[in-house]
Amino acid sequence: MNESRPESMSAFWMPFTNNRDFKANPRLLVSAEGMYYKDVDGNQILDGTAGLWCVPCGHAQPKIVSAVREMIGQLDFAPTFQMGHPAAFDLAEQLMDYTGHKFGHVFYTNSGSEAVDTALKIALAYHKARGEGGRTRLIGRERGYHGVGFGGLSVGGIGPNRKSFGPLLPGVDHLPHTHNLLKNAFSRGEPDFGVELADELERLVALHDASTIAAVIIEPVSGSTGVLVPPKGYLKRLREICTKHGILLIFDEVITGFGRLTTPFAADYFEVEPDLMTTAKGITNGVIPMGAVFSKKFIHDAFMEAPAGIELFHGYTYSGHPVACAAALATLETFKEQQILEHAKGMQAYWEDAVHAMKGLPHVIDIRTIGLVAGIELEPIAGKPGARAYQAFKKAFADGLLIRTTGDIIALSPPLILEKQHIDELFGKLATVLKNLD
Ligand SMILES: Cc1ncc(COP(=O)(O)O)c(C=O)c1O
Repeated sequence: MNESRPESMSAFWMPFTNNRDFKANPRLLVSAEGMYYKDVDGNQILDGTAGLWCVPCGHAQPKIVSAVREMIGQLDFAPTFQMGHPAAFDLAEQLMDYTGHKFGHVFYTNSGSEAVDTALKIALAYHKARGEGGRTRLIGRERGYHGVGFGGLSVGGIGPNRKSFGPLLPGVDHLPHTHNLLKNAFSRGEPDFGVELADELERLVALHDASTIAAVIIEPVSGSTGVLVPPKGYLKRLREICTKHGILLIFDEVITGFGRLTTPFAADYFEVEPDLMTTAKGITNGVIPMGAVFSKKFIHDAFMEAPAGIELFHGYTYSGHPVACAAALATLETFKEQQILEHAKGMQAYWEDAVHAMKGLPHVIDIRTIGLVAGIELEPIAGKPGARAYQAFKKAFADGLLIRTTGDIIALSPPLILEKQHIDELFGKLATVLKNLD
C-alpha cells in the first residue's frame, strides 16, 4: 500500500473542499485503527468525527474487514434487478430486527443522497398509487442537509449548496429551522424553546392545501449545519400534524442512524415514528458505500396492490451490492457482540460534561450536546464567516485531532467505542486550539 505523498495532486477534483488551499498544504491519511488515523508523516490523529460521521464501531473492525474480504472472493457482484443473492435478503431481515420491526421493508441505495432521492420518489409514487396523484409537494426545512442529488438539494436548506444549480425541483417549500441562540444557548439535550415552530407546518398546509403535499423531510438532529437539536416536543408535534393531514413524515437519519444518539435511530431516542427513514454511512461502518430507505409496511403494501409487474421503476446498479451487504451484516454483528450502543450510553454523561467544560473558552458562544454528538459554536471573525472555525480545524489537525467544521461551528461525532481517555485527549487538544485562535 502506498503510504507516501502522491507525485501530483492536480487531477483529483476534491468534493466540498477548498482545493487550492488544501493542495498548498495537504492533510493526507494513510491508515486507521480503532480511534485513530495515521497521517502520511506517521502522526497519530484522534478521530473526533468518525470519519464523516460514518464509522460508529471504530476503524478496522476485524469482523467487518474479513467479511468484506470473504465476499469479494466469493461474489464480487450480482445484480438485484429481477434476480438477487442471499446476503441482500438476509441483511434486509436483520435490519428489520434492528429497527425493532417498526418498519417492514428496506430499499437499498449507495449513499445518503441516493437514499433521500429514493425516499422522496417513494413518497410521490405512494400517493399516486393510492389515487392521490395531486400530492406532489415536498416540504423540507431551512438549514437542512439532505445530500447533493437534485431532490435532496431542493428540500435542503443550505444557501451555498443550492445557489449555483438553477431552479431545482418545483413545488418545494421549507419549514423554518429551530436554531435559537438567544433562548437556547448552552442546552444539554433538547432545548426548552421552539416547539411552536412545528406549527409552521399548519401554516404551509393552509397555504398549499394538504391535498397537494406528499411529504415532510427533516433530520431529527441536523448534523451538517452544526448540530441543531430539536426543541422539546417539536418532533412529536410535527408527527401529529403530518398524521392529521395524510402527509408522510420522512426522517433523514443518514447521520443519526446506527447509534449516534446511543439508540439504534434518532426515532427511538425521541420516540417518534416516521413513515420513511433514510440511512447510509454507519450502516456499513463506512467501509463500503451503502444507503437504505426503511419503509413502513403500509407504504410498501400500496405498491403491491398494483396490477402485476414491476411495482417501482427505481433502483441503482449497485442496490444491495453483495460486498456492501456483507459489510452491513458484519456491522450489525459487531454492534451486538461488542455492545456498542450500551458502551456509548455509558460514555454519554462524561462526554456531555467534557464538552460543556469548553464554555468560557475564547470565542465560544454556544455548546449543544445530544448522544455522542456535540456542536461548539464560535463567534465569527467580523466580515469573514467560517474563517475562525476553519482555522481551528487546521490547527487541530496539526495537533493530532480530527474535528469537523461547518460555518463557525465545530461538530464532533467520535466513533462510539471511545473511552474516557479519548474524551480527555480530545478536549485537552481542543481547549489548546481554542485558546490560540485569532
Ligand atoms: C442528513 C444527511 N442526509 C444525506 C446526506 C448525504 O449523504 P451522502 O454524502 O452519503 O450522499 C448526509 C451526508 O452527510 C446527511 O448528513
